[in-house]
Amino acid sequence: MQNPRVLNALHLRPTDRTPVWFMRQAGRSLPEYRKVRERHSLLEICRIPEVCAEVTLQPVRRLGVDAAILFADIMLPLIALGLDLDIVEGVGPVVARPVREANDVRALRPLEPEDVQFVADDIHATLETLAGAVPLIGFSGAPFTLASYLVEGKPSRDFLMTKRLMYARPDIWEELMSHLGRIVAAYLRAQAEAGVQALQIFDSWVGALSLDDYLRYVQPYTRMLFDGIADLAVPVIHFGTGTSSLLEAMRDVGGDGIGIDWRIPLEVAWQRIGRDRAIQGNLDPLVLLGPWEVVERESRAILDRAGGRPGHIFNVGHGIHPQTDPDQLQRLVELVHGYEPVKGA
Ligand code: CP3
Repeated sequence: MQNPRVLNALHLRPTDRTPVWFMRQAGRSLPEYRKVRERHSLLEICRIPEVCAEVTLQPVRRLGVDAAILFADIMLPLIALGLDLDIVEGVGPVVARPVREANDVRALRPLEPEDVQFVADDIHATLETLAGAVPLIGFSGAPFTLASYLVEGKPSRDFLMTKRLMYARPDIWEELMSHLGRIVAAYLRAQAEAGVQALQIFDSWVGALSLDDYLRYVQPYTRMLFDGIADLAVPVIHFGTGTSSLLEAMRDVGGDGIGIDWRIPLEVAWQRIGRDRAIQGNLDPLVLLGPWEVVERESRAILDRAGGRPGHIFNVGHGIHPQTDPDQLQRLVELVHGYEPVKGA
């Protein structure tokens, strides 16, 4: 591995520069991605290994980030299981028949490695193209975030259907969540076996829950998932948004690194999580729509808060917005790589 900064940070080893990559770095903010999308749908890209490798590498080439994240989507393993599910542009995942009853859950079958052989093929092609330049991060949605799409049938603001099922039918909820825990573990295992060097678990929407509800309705299944991959040799990043009240509970479940959003100052989160874990974050991605001076001010504030301690991976607090100017991203990578912490600060 020519550039092991992200992996070193996840192991709390010192790095010559603060590592940086961006969630959703491969995607609509890049003109070269939009060009590929003129010819292929998102799901087609995921089924053609050479195209998937190309799209995964685009941000590495253009921006100089310290990691590649496999081009895929959190809904991919569920699509691979035969669920009638589409990713609609400008909307997000849409499920034809939402999961609401016991029979809907029982219709979901376990994930076999053959189901996601195409993802393994994508990983092989991407690793070959990367040629060890930077690590390749694989990922999956966490059980709660996947369940929220399955139950709502589409992106949601308040997770009404999800919470109703959770509170009213804990028996169905438990079956759904443990099933998803096993599916996600199998999916992450397949990616690790195909050669990704790190994994990220996106529990993007878990911040919609109170701490008590997280502990009761989510933690046992996310724990199942972490237990299911405990033997894998790759480091894991555990990410969510709006998780200020959940940080310790998420840490207790697992993750070599914890991904946070911008709603909490980085050093406050790190203190609470504990210095024995790496931390990833936490620029508000919409700051990147502002002028460079603001991007610089906000990014320096984050770097100062991390204080140059080993274990900080600079990232946005949630995915890059499609309207982001790639030049801002490139400049930001240069800023992070050029940053020198003030000694004794
Ligand atoms: O660069 C990368 O980060 C890798 C690719 C990636 C995609 N989706 C491709 C994609 C990753 C890591 C994801 C994860 C994902 N997908 C999450 C977790 C991260 C997060 O944002 O919280 C979630 C919740 C999804 C579900 C999803 N897929 C949404 C909400 C959307 C946006 C819909 C829209 O059009 O606004 C998608 C579509 C999607 N996934 C796009 C990309 C590049 C954009 C649409 C396109 O190119 O057609």
